[in-house]
Amino acid sequence: MIVIRECVGLDELEACVHLQIETWGYDPGDVVPRKTFLVAQKIGGQVIGAFDTETPSATPATSASGSPESLVGFAFSLPGVKTGQSEPKAYLHSHMLAVKERYRNRGLGRQLKLEQRREALSRGIRLMEWTFDPLEIKNAFINIHRLGATVFCYREDFYGLSSSRLQGGLPTDRLLAEWRLDSPRVQGIIAGRPAIRHVIEERILVPASIYEWKASDENRKRALAVQQENRLKFQKAFSQGLAVLDFSLDAEGNGVFELGAPTWTE
Ligand SMILES: CC(C)(COP(=O)(O)OP(=O)(O)OC[C@H]1O[C@@H](n2cnc3c(N)ncnc32)[C@H](O)[C@@H]1OP(=O)(O)O)[C@@H](O)C(=O)NCCC(=O)NCCS
Repeated sequence: MIVIRECVGLDELEACVHLQIETWGYDPGDVVPRKTFLVAQKIGGQVIGAFDTETPSATPATSASGSPESLVGFAFSLPGVKTGQSEPKAYLHSHMLAVKERYRNRGLGRQLKLEQRREALSRGIRLMEWTFDPLEIKNAFINIHRLGATVFCYREDFYGLSSSRLQGGLPTDRLLAEWRLDSPRVQGIIAGRPAIRHVIEERILVPASIYEWKASDENRKRALAVQQENRLKFQKAFSQGLAVLDFSLDAEGNGVFELGAPTWTE
């Protein structure tokens, strides 16, 4: 059984650090340490864990609600403030989402995001943002199509050089996902209702072989070429006021970002 709840105590936060290293293979300079998780919790951020209460190594005394040994996923967010509007507004920046490899594709990533949303709304926070790699088809599918996030902005080489093994040494270009937690769009999509139909003005394709290309020395150039070409397309589309409103997969598994003019209800 999987329990989703806020992580409690240093040992559970340490388990998040371990899962972070297992997931991204970061070197010490890139790892977010336990203390940062702790501080985030104390200042209004979130460290939410997914625990498999049937993990054999979990101690029986803690198995009902999970324990550090039974952590199989986590979502981590930091509090932020938006200025420049009539008054400053609190929001959350979700910095990491990870699920252990053998637990993937069972809905845990989505459940962790939904718990982040529930918890944020319970405190009156209505916006969550995070960045994601536009070459990661699966992440784009979850963020846009399954959760209803929208994207208005492209950040070129956002983190600079990264030791993440998922990055394949490419520049750390990112899309900025905006999740308007109580918008009609998000409420509808997470309730499983079909998304509001839009006029699609631009489609940006990511080939299914991108994962293979990023991971191989001989083909990395091809991944870089896709990144560079798509970067220009996104930048042009955003400068024209378009936004990413949906994401689909074609029959070959290629990912397709669908861009159009957003409406106020997004
Ligand atoms: C991203 C991640 C957290 C998702 O967790 P997860 O538990 O596997 O996610 P879910 O099971 O909730 O959702 C996966 C969805 O992607 C779909 N999917 C799986 N592989 C896919 C692929 N190659 N292309 C497109 N969609 C894919 C699944 O079918 C599922 O969709 P569905 O709910 O409609 O069936 C996990 O893959 C992970 O830890 N990745 C490495 C770290 C990472 O990239 N984190 C995010 C950026 S910070």
